Amino acid sequence: MRLRLNIIIVVLGFCSCSNPNTKSIELASPNSNISVDFNIDKEGKPFYTVQFNNQVVVDTSYLGFEFKDAPAFEKNFIIKNTETKAFNETWQMPWGEQLNVVNNYNELKVELQEKTSPERFLNIVFKVYDDGIGFRYEFPKQSKFKGDVLIKEEHTEFNLTEDYKTFWIPGDWDIYEHLYSSTKLSEVDAIAYAKHVNLAQTYIPENAVNTPVTMVSENGIHLSFHEAALVDYSGMTLQVDTTNLNLKSNLVGSKNTDYKVKRTLPFHTPWRTIQITDNAPDLIESKLIVNLNEPNKLGDVSWFKPMKYTGVWWEMHLGKSSWDYGMEMVDGQWKDTGKAHGKHGATTKNVKNFIDFSAKNNIGGVLVEGWNTGWERWIGFEDREGVFDFVTTYPDYDIDEVVRYAKEKGVDIIMHHETSAATETYEKQQDAAYTLMQKYGMHAVKSGYVGKILPKGEYHHGQYMVNQYNNAAIKAAKYEVAVNAHEPIKATGLRRTYPNIISREGLRGQEFNAWAEDGGNPPEHLPIVAFTRMLAGPIDFTPGIFNIKFDEFKKDNQVNTTIAQQLALYVVIYSPIQMAADLVEHYEANPEPLQFIKDVGVDWEETKVLNGKVGDYVTIARKERDTGHWFVGGITDENAISHQLEFDFLDDNQSYEAIIYKDGKNAHWNDNPLDLEIEKIELNKKSKLTVSLAEGGGIAMSLKKIE
Ligand code: NOJ
Ligand code: CA
Repeated sequence: MRLRLNIIIVVLGFCSCSNPNTKSIELASPNSNISVDFNIDKEGKPFYTVQFNNQVVVDTSYLGFEFKDAPAFEKNFIIKNTETKAFNETWQMPWGEQLNVVNNYNELKVELQEKTSPERFLNIVFKVYDDGIGFRYEFPKQSKFKGDVLIKEEHTEFNLTEDYKTFWIPGDWDIYEHLYSSTKLSEVDAIAYAKHVNLAQTYIPENAVNTPVTMVSENGIHLSFHEAALVDYSGMTLQVDTTNLNLKSNLVGSKNTDYKVKRTLPFHTPWRTIQITDNAPDLIESKLIVNLNEPNKLGDVSWFKPMKYTGVWWEMHLGKSSWDYGMEMVDGQWKDTGKAHGKHGATTKNVKNFIDFSAKNNIGGVLVEGWNTGWERWIGFEDREGVFDFVTTYPDYDIDEVVRYAKEKGVDIIMHHETSAATETYEKQQDAAYTLMQKYGMHAVKSGYVGKILPKGEYHHGQYMVNQYNNAAIKAAKYEVAVNAHEPIKATGLRRTYPNIISREGLRGQEFNAWAEDGGNPPEHLPIVAFTRMLAGPIDFTPGIFNIKFDEFKKDNQVNTTIAQQLALYVVIYSPIQMAADLVEHYEANPEPLQFIKDVGVDWEETKVLNGKVGDYVTIARKERDTGHWFVGGITDENAISHQLEFDFLDDNQSYEAIIYKDGKNAHWNDNPLDLEIEKIELNKKSKLTVSLAEGGGIAMSLKKIE
């Protein structure tokens, strides 16, 4: 750590905000572009403002808490003490979008004390970076809070100064798998989505949004609101006051308690974050969320290798095969009573086919869903505890043989734990489940939490579940197991602290294209996701569908992109595990585009966002660790677009063989999604190239060094 205290600006001056007051404390970012003013008003209410390039982007916004069994933290505060410091370090991601991450900020800690009951204290810590701010509340040990602190609501405000163009999903307490809306902030109407079809569970109590929520101003200011280091606390939704353009924290609650968070002193909240940039690409390059998390607590995690994977997965979503086998529960035991329907997907033979295909195509893993008993009762039943046990295989799946065969071929088997949101069963079974994985040398699990949470009354994003997800990952690390959760809690950068938290769902993924009744994900979905959900962390989106219309399985569904876009997603969407999601036969019928999936990297030294506009298009270049090869991916929404790409990120004096996978002349996401052209050229640092993307299209490039 190198202290540069000289550059901190702490001034006592008049607040530039609309709230007339005496003296404020100002803290600026290292490059001075972003600054935060903190103060208390005449009633002793704490508030802050944020400025970006001398423009107020967050005006007078109050901070406080409401408790059960204790008066609120709201007013009558005095500032007891302040402390400032500067911090600058560079840390390394064990796997990630880039190797080195600069973590450079100025910090202000304000210690508040209530005038009326002098024994109660609250600290607020601000960290101001060049790419945004984070602040959190710290509750020091104090005698006036007897027993636990029961938080009924956190009152954090973000009072905005403009009716931003806003990219949002509803503040659902139980799922993030909604389509994004792009409206003015004043037009946000989350309740309109309250009864959406195709969601296994949903609860939208307020006109609120989930985070990250991203906004763009008339003059190009980009703001994204989120949280970092969500630990032992409830997820935060943001309630939208469409008249006053104000966002207010609304924590996820529980039907089982009349408070939303229970903590013992001392503790602190997650960081409340605002990423602030003057262009869209910088939002993706921002490392604010991971920087606000604590350093790696696990040490060496080299037992987890970033990888591409295939699996017994898409075929179930298409209806070609099933997770279940056709067993029956007899006297509390799953029994093969001779009713097997013959459609079961996770058979030894089928998995071996995926292993062979992966081994041939530079793909490191195979995911096997539907391998364990219980799938006959996994959804559609109230009582789902005790259904799965995570160790008992179906009769046609020989796990010993599968693992032996996979090892012989140099492929890893990825474990699958669908919990059906029956958390008590899973918690009880975790040691046994991870022990089984250890026995077979399996280092990655995809977990799933489909359905309403058991115990009843809890929601996926409340404190109870935040602890379930975090504890499952922390326990998994002890068994050298990395976790990719579906139906998860949102990513908040904890992968820095626990780098076995590798990826997650937490958005409308590819699966919706197989069966959603609303026609699947529209072409604008991923150009929005790249600037919203992706700012939170890695996404297990499962790209790479080549049989885009799949009429032989589902006449009314399709993937709403071109095949070039499916390839581009391996670069655009970041995840250290990246699925080649389609069926083996669909890949084998298309060896030319398959070459890109075979070649593309999955662990990066550097990432450069070459261009982008929230909701419209984005192009990203990533340099593979170890090889130094570059890969470029670009996607667009329903509008065709041309860009001139520059390659100044390439190494000096080095030529590259570029294979370009682009939309053909007649390509169109609906009319002609398979029209693909492949071209080979040589490129270097000085090259410029004009590329054209079709409606719903994309471009993918591999750039290999010519030795
Ligand atoms: C939902 C997950 O998102 C999906 O990937 C999985 O196949 C099913 N649940 C079954 O676990
Ligand atoms: Ca899902």
